[in-house]
Amino acid sequence: MRTWPYPAIVAHRGGGKLAPENTLEAIDVGARFGHKMIEFDAKLSADDIVFLLHDDAVDRTSNGRGAAKAMTYAQLRALDAGTWFGAEFANARMPTLAQVHERCVKHGLAVNIEIKPSQGRDVETGVLVAREAAHLWADAEVAPLMSSFSYAALEAARDVAPNLPRGMLYERVPVNWRAQTSALSCVSLHANHRTLDEALVAQIKDAGLRILAYTVNDPARARLLAQWGVDAICTDRIDIIGADFLEAS
Ligand code: G3P
Ligand code: MG
Repeated sequence: MRTWPYPAIVAHRGGGKLAPENTLEAIDVGARFGHKMIEFDAKLSADDIVFLLHDDAVDRTSNGRGAAKAMTYAQLRALDAGTWFGAEFANARMPTLAQVHERCVKHGLAVNIEIKPSQGRDVETGVLVAREAAHLWADAEVAPLMSSFSYAALEAARDVAPNLPRGMLYERVPVNWRAQTSALSCVSLHANHRTLDEALVAQIKDAGLRILAYTVNDPARARLLAQWGVDAICTDRIDIIGADFLEAS
C-alpha cells in the first residue's frame, strides 16, 4: 500500500458549496466536476449506524430538529437533507457509510473520512467508523485516509484499524503536534489553511508528514500553499479549483 496515493485537490463535504453537503447527491456533483477525491464527515446514530453529517444537530442541514446522536438511523433517514440547499435536492438523505462507499466506487473516488463524533461519543465513533471503513474499503487500491479533530477518536481508529492511514486534524496547529502525530503514527497533518505559514509547512514536512489544508477557496492561496509544500487542498470551490488545478496553473 502506497503511503500517500492521494490527489492534490479534495472536494470538501463531497460537492463543496454546489450541493447539499455530505449527501450522495453531493458526491455525484463532486464527480461530475471531475474531482478524484472527496472529504466527508462521519458519525454515529443512536443505534450505532455510521452515517454522514457535519454538525451534532440535524437542524442546519435537514428539515429535522435536535441532536443526531439521540435519533435512530431510521429516524435520520426519514429527514430531507436537501431542500435546505435547494428544492431540486428534496430527495437527498443523510447516507450511511456503506452507501457512500458504493457511490465512491462507482465514481472512482478516493476518500478522506473525517471522524466527527457527536459530543461524548469520541471513542465509540472512532472504533465503529474505522472498523467499517476497513471492512468496506478492504479491497480498495487506495485506502481511505482517516482524520479527526478528536485525538481520542483517531486513537481508537488506530487501535481497531492500524493499517488505515491517519491524519490528525487541527483548527490551529498546537505546540505538541509532533508528539500527537507520532503517537498516532499519522501519515499526515490536516490544518486550517489560515494557521499555516511557510515556516510551519517546512517544519511539518521535515517531520516526514504530508499536509492537507482546509478549506481553501481562493485559487491564489491554493497555489501558494502548494508552493510551500502542502500536499492536498480541500476546497468548497470545486468549480474553480478543479482536480487538475495545480498542474494547469
Ligand atoms: O477535514 C477538513 C475539514 O472538513 C474540517 O472542518 O468543520 O469542515 O469538518 P469541517
Ligand atoms: Mg470535515
